[in-house]
Amino acid sequence: MTKLLVVATGNPGKLQEMQAYLADSGWELTLKPEELDIEETGDTFAANACLKASQVALATGEWAIADDSGLEVDALNGAPGVYSARYAPTDSERIARVLRELDGEVNRQAQFVCAIAIASADGAIAFKAEGICRGEILHTPRGDGGFGYDPIFYVPEKQLTFAQMSPELKGSISHRGQAFAALLPQLNKL
Ligand code: IMP
Repeated sequence: MTKLLVVATGNPGKLQEMQAYLADSGWELTLKPEELDIEETGDTFAANACLKASQVALATGEWAIADDSGLEVDALNGAPGVYSARYAPTDSERIARVLRELDGEVNRQAQFVCAIAIASADGAIAFKAEGICRGEILHTPRGDGGFGYDPIFYVPEKQLTFAQMSPELKGSISHRGQAFAALLPQLNKL
């Protein structure tokens, strides 16, 4: 029997991406109702993922899944962090802001973090998972794939930025890929 999992996002791209990660899980994924808007008021990725999963589960009476992710730069004390999506109006302005704030800084260490939470129909959190991918912030963008901060996030082991990687390679090492890999065995147990 297929089980229904409501994805706490209004973004069809995110639904598609989750469908790919959870393809063999036996769950059918669907978008949350459009009118249901949840503010990300938490101060950690995990808090925001739990908040969204819980509220969507309660509102729909179904199991719900939510993720929250972003970039943490060591020399900026973890900024932009949970404000990654809101750091400036567009992707290129967000990149420009990070590069400006790191101007003259030799420590370029950074990480992408992804937290995922799954809530049961009563709003209780059933599972959580987190994935981290370490890298370095370049001085200028490189590559034109991916989205967000991908062109400035360089992974030394692969000698590529996220924006230079195929979706398959990025998915195999990324924060999101690792979080879903950790979640899958738990989801299969239900
Ligand atoms: P979310 O949709 O609330 O999780 O926002 C995540 C934000 O963090 C995005 O808008 C991007 O700016 C950034 N981000 C998260 N994951 C990635 C990634 O894999 N590549 C580039 N930027 C990312």
